[in-house]
Amino acid sequence: MFLGVAATRADPPPAFEQLRWTAPGSEQALLSEQPATCLASDTPLVRSGRALFTVPTLLGGQAAKAGLSCASCHINGRDNRHFLLSGVSAAPGTADVTNSFFSAARGNGHFDPVAIPDLAMPGKISRDLAAGALEPFIRNLIVEEFGGREPTPAMLDALAAYVRAVRACPGEPSVGRRLSDQLSAIDDGAAGAQLMLDSADTQGAALSIAAMRHQLGLIAERYTGSGLAREREGLLAASRALQTIGEGDPARIGPALARWKSEFGKGLAKRLRSAEGRSLYDRKRLAESLR
Ligand code: HEC
Repeated sequence: MFLGVAATRADPPPAFEQLRWTAPGSEQALLSEQPATCLASDTPLVRSGRALFTVPTLLGGQAAKAGLSCASCHINGRDNRHFLLSGVSAAPGTADVTNSFFSAARGNGHFDPVAIPDLAMPGKISRDLAAGALEPFIRNLIVEEFGGREPTPAMLDALAAYVRAVRACPGEPSVGRRLSDQLSAIDDGAAGAQLMLDSADTQGAALSIAAMRHQLGLIAERYTGSGLAREREGLLAASRALQTIGEGDPARIGPALARWKSEFGKGLAKRLRSAEGRSLYDRKRLAESLR
């Protein structure tokens, strides 16, 4: 929906989804920098989990409506010091995940926001594979706290594998935001969709495709102005093509996605790369647009 809005207006004012849950005054910081993550491994399973981590429709109810995903609070699996959402946060960087905002059925009735933990650090929940505590914890988060649909075992495997792989990068706390973040997230989604299809998991495949479309929307937010209208049209068309693929015959999704990806890589992705300097991935332009 957002992509449609961004792509049809001639000169849309910047409307960044992430600013809906960002502390006032931190807009530039949030949109230009992000916590750096060095994954312990980047197997297709881990990448598939990274893709699911970014899809709002993994969560349900209010969270999905607001556009929140796991990554809204745990940027790149880390934390989000700028997170501020009315009714959910006390100070920036805090959230109450047992709040009735997210799940009317399960809200504990107390407003008790805590600091959003950095998942690269050891926490309350054991990351030990043999202990197997992480999978049920994530399942409860999705279903009980965020009112989402029951995740499949393949989806939980992927999410847990990703969380287990998240590490800080030595000597590099944060990195700039770039188009390549979104392009590699699109690759993650495609790899994830294939993995889910291989285990006949249509729910996981649909969410992986949703992850890819979400990333196209994030790119569109940055390609504003009349000079980038062609790129925005391309993004909208690419997103619609993905939607059609996802709604089609499951047996054809794999080959159709592979074709989509190869065309995207040869065409639109190249054009986006050469226009990146004129987009709001450019820090100066971003700062001007936020003024
Ligand atoms: C609204 C912000 C928010 C969202 C969205 C969110 N989390 Fe969290 N997460 C938190 C907070 C706050 C805690 C700490 C809760 C506590 O300590 O009681 C937490 C805790 C965790 C932990 C436990 C860390 C530890 O201490 O060991 C894991 C793992 C985790 N989240 C994964 C996820 C996953 C996976 C998703 C998506 C399904 C997700 N989170 C979505 C805010 C969020």
